[in-house]
Amino acid sequence: MIQLYHVHKRYESGTDALSDVTLRVREGEFVFLTGRSGAGKSTLIRLLLVMERVTEGQVLIGGRNVHVLRDSSVPFLRRNMGVIFQDFRLIPNRTVRENVAIGMEILGIGRKETDRRVEQLLAALGLELRQSAYPKDLSGGEQQRVAIARALVNEPAILLADEPTGNLDPQMSLEIMDLLLEINRRGTTVLVATHDTALIERYGLRTLELEAGRVIHDHPRRDGGAGTAPGAGLGAGAWEIAARAASAAAGADSARTDSARTDSARTDSAGAHSATTPLTATPGGVAAPPTSPSADAPEEGA
Ligand SMILES: Nc1ncnc2c1ncn2[C@@H]1O[C@H](COP(=O)(O)OP(=O)(O)OP(=O)(O)O)[C@@H](O)[C@H]1O
Ligand SMILES: [Mg+2]
Repeated sequence: MIQLYHVHKRYESGTDALSDVTLRVREGEFVFLTGRSGAGKSTLIRLLLVMERVTEGQVLIGGRNVHVLRDSSVPFLRRNMGVIFQDFRLIPNRTVRENVAIGMEILGIGRKETDRRVEQLLAALGLELRQSAYPKDLSGGEQQRVAIARALVNEPAILLADEPTGNLDPQMSLEIMDLLLEINRRGTTVLVATHDTALIERYGLRTLELEAGRVIHDHPRRDGGAGTAPGAGLGAGAWEIAARAASAAAGADSARTDSARTDSARTDSAGAHSATTPLTATPGGVAAPPTSPSADAPEEGA
């Protein structure tokens, strides 16, 4: 669960990027964050990642006030989060494969496990034929998918996506959205910052609207439901559809989805999607509650 209480963020320049923001995102929810350029969307995402510190107020993730964490503890918090930045931030002198694997290397995850998970994700995102390419040789959509693969490789409990469809054509945007929805169906809390009102309108999901740093609307889901996206619990078939959509976007012949589904024996704690679960290949993966930072991230003074 993500909670903000009366959060105020003033940059050193004196700009008040967020003012008195109070909101709550439940575990497993899918939420759009919208508002005009400069409204504070990216700032809110950076506060959740503790890339910036709040000026006033509190940010709680899994019940813990993350802004009293020592700098040295912040990486533990981030282990449970995946992030897709507005500008992708791929490493130019690393291949697609290396860009995706780097998060796991940093966490000290073994070569074999890393290879396996990277393989699965690249296949699921229709990127396996591009794995040796460098970012400069990729299309915008391909770069976007590499950024998504990198965000997912650690099986985060929370996925933060800043304009994930910002540089994509409408068709590709829908395919990326379907992918994010499928990730959400698997239990990951997803927060998507976008100013694409057509996209928001199309999906009818909960939407927090920012204006000049304040939340001016909290539009509930159109279907009145709570929790995950409509269609939650559809099962593994939905993932295959999403994977196929991503593959189609990559060019029908350049992507096989089957290799993404090698882990068929596992049963995850959610009890769903267990037959084909490329994103949750280890117990306590995506479906794990976002409370794990507390296990290894002591607060200041603790
Ligand atoms: N590092 C920074 N230093 C000073 N001011 C900043 C910084 N980052 C953002 N701002 C300012 O804070 C306000 C909110 O910016 P933010 O990037 O959060 O908006 P946004 O909603 O993400 O906009 P966009 O849709 O253009 O990405 C803006 O006025 C911006 O100029
Ligand atoms: Mg932004």
